[in-house]
Amino acid sequence: MKLLVVGGAGYIGSHVVRCFLDNGHNVTVFDNLSTGCRENLFKEGEFIQGDILDIPLLQEVMAGGFDGLVHLAALKSVEESMSFPEKYSVNNITGTLNLLNAASESGIRHIVFSSSAAIFGNPQYLPIDEDHLKNPPNYYGFTKLEIEHILQWYDRLKKIRFAALRYFNAVGYDPEGRIAGLEKNPANLVPIIMEVATGKRKKLQIFGDDYDTRDGTCIRDYVHVSDLATAHLLAMEYIHKFNTSDCFNLGSEKGTSVLEMVESAREITGKPIPAEIAPRRPGDPGNLVATSAKAYKTLKWKAQYSDLPTLMESSWNAYKKHL
Ligand code: UD1
Repeated sequence: MKLLVVGGAGYIGSHVVRCFLDNGHNVTVFDNLSTGCRENLFKEGEFIQGDILDIPLLQEVMAGGFDGLVHLAALKSVEESMSFPEKYSVNNITGTLNLLNAASESGIRHIVFSSSAAIFGNPQYLPIDEDHLKNPPNYYGFTKLEIEHILQWYDRLKKIRFAALRYFNAVGYDPEGRIAGLEKNPANLVPIIMEVATGKRKKLQIFGDDYDTRDGTCIRDYVHVSDLATAHLLAMEYIHKFNTSDCFNLGSEKGTSVLEMVESAREITGKPIPAEIAPRRPGDPGNLVATSAKAYKTLKWKAQYSDLPTLMESSWNAYKKHL
C-alpha cells in the first residue's frame, strides 16, 4: 500500500512508520517537526515537512494519491490542554478537519486515527471496553472524542472508512533500537523517569499516594509502542478488506502503579531515581485498565512487548545512549 503518515516523525508515528516499512509498504511522512524529529525519519520513506493547518499543501500532497492515511499529528499534553484549550482546538480539531477534507477531495477512503483512553474519564467499571461511557476528564480527551464523532459522520456521508485506536499509556522504544529520537519536553511518566535516570532532571514527582489502589498511587495500562504500531498495520488492512469502520481499545490489560513503574525503572537502570510524593494532578483517574478483547478478536492483535521489564528496558536502551 501507498500510505501517508501524518505525524510520522513523532514518538508513536516513527514506530508506526517503521512497522509499515518492515511490512513492505510505501510510506510518505508528513510532519511539521514541532514535536517530532528528523532523527526519526527513515531513508526508505519520503518526507514532506508541513503543517496540518496548511490546507493548500495538504491538497497538493494528497493529490499524489494514497491508499490510506494514518493520522497521529496532535498535541497530547493533558495539563496544557486545560490551560490552553484554544491551541488544542486549532491543532487537534481544525487540523483534523483540514486533513479529512483534503482526504475526501482527493479520494482517500481509509484512515487510521490515533485516539486515546482519555475519551473515557473516570471508569464506571474495569477493564474498560469500547462501549464504556465516554466522559473525557480533560480538553485533550475531548478533542479526540470529537474527532471520533466527526469520523463517524464522514464514514456515513463520504464513505471514508476509519479505525480509531484508543491507546492506553504508550511506552517503550523499538526493541531493535532503530528509533533514535527522544521526546522533547515530555510530560508523561516514563520519559520523565528516564530523564531522572540520565540526570537531566533531579527527581520525579509522584502525583498523589492517596488513591484507592493497592499502594495509593495511580494505576495505568502501559502498552509497548511497537505493539501499538502493529495495531495500525492490522487496522489499516482490516478496514480495506472489510470496507468498514471501527474503534479499538489498545492496552496490555495489566494495571501497574506509579510506584511499581519507579521500582522497575530503578532495577533496570541501576539508578536511584529520586522521587517525592506531590499533590494529585487534577483530572487524573485512579485506575485505568483496558480490555483489548475486541482488537484480539477482530484484528488478531495481541500485545507482545508490553511486559514491564521489556517496556522499561527498551526505554532505557534509547535513553542511556544520551547519558
Ligand atoms: C494521559 C491520557 C492518555 C494519553 C496520554 C498522552 C488520561 C486519563 N490519560 O495519560 O489517554 O494518551 O496522557 O499524553 O487523560 N505521573 C506522575 N508524575 C509525573 C508524570 C505522571 O506521578 O511526573 C503519573 C500520573 O499521575 C499518572 C501516571 O503517572 O497516574 C501516568 O501519567 P502520564 O504518563 O502523564 O499519562 P496519563 O495521564 O495516564
